[in-house]
Amino acid sequence: MSDISFEEEEFTTQFNGRTLLRIVQQVKPYWKWVAGFLLGMAVVSTLDSYFTYLGKQIIDEGILARDRERLIEIVTVYGSLIVMQALGVFVFIYMTGVLGQRVQYDLRKKMFNHLQALSFSYFDRTPVGWIMSRVTSDSERVSELVTWGMLDVTWAVFNIATAAVFMLSINWQLTLIVFLVIPVLVIVAIWFKTRILVQYRKVRKVNSKITGAYNENISGVRVSKALCREEKNLEEFGLLSGEMYRAGFKAAWLSALFFPMVQLISSVAVGSIIVYSGLQVELGLLTIGGIQAFVTYVTFMLWPINEMARVYAEMQRAVASAERIFSLIDAVPDVADEPGAIDPGTIKGDIEFDHVDFYYEPDEPVLQDFNLTVKRGETIALVGPTGGGKSTIVNLVCRFYEPKAGVLRIGGRDYREYSLHAIQSRVGVVLQTPHLFSGTIRENIRYGRLDATDAEVEAAAKVAGAHEFILKLEKGYDEDVGEGGGLLSVGEKQLISLARAVLADPEVFIMDEATSSVDTLTEALVQRGMEAMMQDRTSFIIAHRLSTIKRADRILVIENGRITEMGTHAELLRARGHYYRLYTRQFRDERARAYDPFRATTGAASAAP
Ligand SMILES: Nc1ncnc2c1ncn2[C@@H]1O[C@H](COP(=O)(O)OP(=O)(O)OP(=O)(O)O)[C@@H](O)[C@H]1O
Ligand SMILES: [Mg+2]
Repeated sequence: MSDISFEEEEFTTQFNGRTLLRIVQQVKPYWKWVAGFLLGMAVVSTLDSYFTYLGKQIIDEGILARDRERLIEIVTVYGSLIVMQALGVFVFIYMTGVLGQRVQYDLRKKMFNHLQALSFSYFDRTPVGWIMSRVTSDSERVSELVTWGMLDVTWAVFNIATAAVFMLSINWQLTLIVFLVIPVLVIVAIWFKTRILVQYRKVRKVNSKITGAYNENISGVRVSKALCREEKNLEEFGLLSGEMYRAGFKAAWLSALFFPMVQLISSVAVGSIIVYSGLQVELGLLTIGGIQAFVTYVTFMLWPINEMARVYAEMQRAVASAERIFSLIDAVPDVADEPGAIDPGTIKGDIEFDHVDFYYEPDEPVLQDFNLTVKRGETIALVGPTGGGKSTIVNLVCRFYEPKAGVLRIGGRDYREYSLHAIQSRVGVVLQTPHLFSGTIRENIRYGRLDATDAEVEAAAKVAGAHEFILKLEKGYDEDVGEGGGLLSVGEKQLISLARAVLADPEVFIMDEATSSVDTLTEALVQRGMEAMMQDRTSFIIAHRLSTIKRADRILVIENGRITEMGTHAELLRARGHYYRLYTRQFRDERARAYDPFRATTGAASAAP
């Protein structure tokens, strides 16, 4: 993964054959389609070139020879062949379209499947936008390469090849002239096209930067003005515009030069053909129809050559796309089932951190030599300052991440001996940033256990304290939550996540609370739900509001990845340490809020996610 940058691609002129080979392998299952496609293409190309040849015969043997019967004969052949050609075109374009869809579908499916298997750590370091581009635009680009790109290339190659055969049969010296010019044209076209594309890509890149700069400046205009940043902004903007101007200028210059160049070379070719063929006609070696056919063949060839240059550039882009897709498909999950992992059917038992070390980034340790044993059925509350490591501890229990050193045991066994499914299906977790899927509230709760009946869903919502607010919604349980639950407040999302966990009836319950965004009334509801969940199961509760956790069996204060205080509520208050200060301050704040009507209402559940 590390060799892939998250910047959008720089255009390169180098070529990776291995990736190209892998792209070809994507098409392999559809070799019959490809074969059919090639056959259709061969028929069409041969007919294309043959039509020009028939044109020659019409002129020479029909018109110039004033042979009416021969003319009708040739035209009849021409007409019936056109029907055949139309059929061929239909076949290969249809096949190309289907093939493209298949390849794209396969790639997307592979990526989707693999994304499900990848660990949290992958998503930590990979921006969502980056992944989305792989699934959407990159897979499309690759499928376009194997279809329309392949179509253009084979069409060009077949056309040139079949034309060459007919040209040779008419006059070999002229054919030689044409085939001396073609390589020159190909080189010129590719040289120009790739450079023009580089410039245009630069323009696009700078353009998106400019859009971003505009956006930031407009939305931040108050800040800029307040801090007198206008001069500096203008300077930065000027630099960007200059960059864009230079790239655009270069692109225009190259394009302007390209077409006359191609025209010049083609004119030289056509000119030489005409002069030379004039001589040949005088010697009786070439007919008028032959000249006409030759000129047609040459102009026929110029277009595919031009196309090939474009396809070549597209191909490099598609190969770069494929490289990124494969990097995603090849990414190895950090957390995966060990060989021989088992699912014992239950994971009830003590949870034990034994000298556990953990970090997200190698040089930033989060937990060091962390030790903790949680008895089966015990409720553990974790409190402490932001960034202390509370979420990290529960992430390890869920096995979203694994310890870097030391062992985490469940029921006396290293939890890596269990399958991921064995653990994750029995640990119910309400995350600090709850996520809902687009769909109804009912569907979202049912996500906890797919075979639950409507009555069970509602019962779970009641336990979680979500029932009341759901009923107040216009459509109740059938209310749409919007993408990512965007139509609900964070507090409401947590209630639904809690209901989901209740429905799943896990053996271990984890709640990473975000109560800061829940009003006091909702908080009381959440608390009731949590208490119901905490009964008879091992629970980890992370709370910022301490009233929630007073009744926990043990409270742990986590600071800098260490347990600095541990005990019951009463014990910790007596100890007069961090917890005592936290508690008394919050208690004071809450009293103050009770007398301050403005603060009491702004604390309501209205925060955006
Ligand atoms: N996905 C991640 N990638 C890198 N670093 C992370 C990641 N998640 C947390 N950290 C870092 O690990 C440390 C512990 O974070 P953690 O989320 O466990 O704290 P927390 O106690 O849950 O804080 P809060 O009360 O704000 O939720 C922090 O320094 C944080 O910056
Ligand atoms: Mg946290």
